[in-house]
Amino acid sequence: MSRYANNPQAIRNLIRPTEVHRDVYIDQEVFELEMKYLFANTWVFVGHESQTPNKGDYFTTEIGTQPVIMVRHSDNEIYVLHNRCPHKGTKIAIDRTGNTGKFFRCPYHAWSFKTNGCLLAIPLRKGYKDTGLEESESVHGMAPVGAVKNYRGFIFARLNKDGPDFESFFGESLSSFDNMVDRSPEGRLEVAGPPLRYMHRCNWKMLVENQTDTCHPMVAHESSAGTAIDLWEKMDKPEGTQKPMAMEVIAPFMSPYEFFENMGIRTWPNGHGHTGVHHSIHSDYSAIPGYFEQMVEAYGEERAKAILGENRHNTVYFPNIMIKGPIQQLRLFTPIAADKTLVESYIYRLVGAPDMLLERTAMYNRMINAPTSMVGHDDLEMYERAQEGLHSDGLEWVNVQRLYQEGENFDEITVENGTTERQMRNQFHAWEKYMTLTMEGDAQ
Ligand code: FES
Ligand SMILES: [Fe+2]
Repeated sequence: MSRYANNPQAIRNLIRPTEVHRDVYIDQEVFELEMKYLFANTWVFVGHESQTPNKGDYFTTEIGTQPVIMVRHSDNEIYVLHNRCPHKGTKIAIDRTGNTGKFFRCPYHAWSFKTNGCLLAIPLRKGYKDTGLEESESVHGMAPVGAVKNYRGFIFARLNKDGPDFESFFGESLSSFDNMVDRSPEGRLEVAGPPLRYMHRCNWKMLVENQTDTCHPMVAHESSAGTAIDLWEKMDKPEGTQKPMAMEVIAPFMSPYEFFENMGIRTWPNGHGHTGVHHSIHSDYSAIPGYFEQMVEAYGEERAKAILGENRHNTVYFPNIMIKGPIQQLRLFTPIAADKTLVESYIYRLVGAPDMLLERTAMYNRMINAPTSMVGHDDLEMYERAQEGLHSDGLEWVNVQRLYQEGENFDEITVENGTTERQMRNQFHAWEKYMTLTMEGDAQ
């Protein structure tokens, strides 16, 4: 029985100012509506241009659950196309990445398409003479997504043709991307190898919410970060021994509650926001020899200091990515089912910067985000328990009330105490808005 389709009011009823109904996480119908509306109405991350450096290079991925191909066309522009043959529906590209040359050729009956999707040729085309092919939707070739934007090398797409434009959807939140890219003396990033991939048996939104949940690290990560600190402190080592890079990376996870309170959370309209306004777990890393000098040479001292002085912790771009500017990482949370999410952790090289920066970035990714990480498992355990617990009929609502203030206006940019759950409320406000934006069914 369908309870939510074409019933925007039923969707709105799932979100209260301080609570979220459990169906938002566990109901498969809600999940399918998210794929149909939320992921189609918003701007969703696709990939980085350095993943397709040459003409004909492609990269296959998903927007929500829609398979798409990001491809560099002969005009050097990047196109995002639905990965589906307009003949019988066959997926055109199966490999994760590759180079298709000047055209795509469907493996089933060899229809071929230019790398911008246009139909190039059909074998034995005369068989379609006088059949009205010109009026069919197939004749246009592989369908492009509604809109594509390359923002400083990061490719975003909107599935729907109409909808919010890129700038108004992201607004000032793009400053976190700017900061990540500006950290390269050349103002350029390059993806550093394939991502770490990690399947999670939980709803995708649990991961997104956890990016600004600052009340859990010292609790949930005591088993990993706490143990590491303990071992380091008990080690027999000469006075003044410098902390190794790995310790610098893991130790801040055990920072006290006050540290997270003081770091601050900034929220932007449309569900975006970040922790680490004043300082963060990335603030106190050792200097990398030669890097600051390179930045001063590239930008001048004042600007270089301003760029490196931003130590934003996690920036969430609604709906489903998080970036860490100071350590050049992007995590993509791809929804698969109400209770299944694929997480991919990408790292980027700062073009022109010392290699040791990439070493730290890679180390962070392995220690914190990998399928074999220490820290990530703590979180996964909590998500899976939540996914199970939400099936209990004892209670129906999830609480996101911490530091709630009546009359919160999510169209405003705010900076608040770093332990507020305002950013989660901000996300659910956006969730409700984009779920119902194009849903029919409101009685007027
Ligand atoms: S399905 Fe692609 S050519 Fe027939
Ligand atoms: Fe965590």
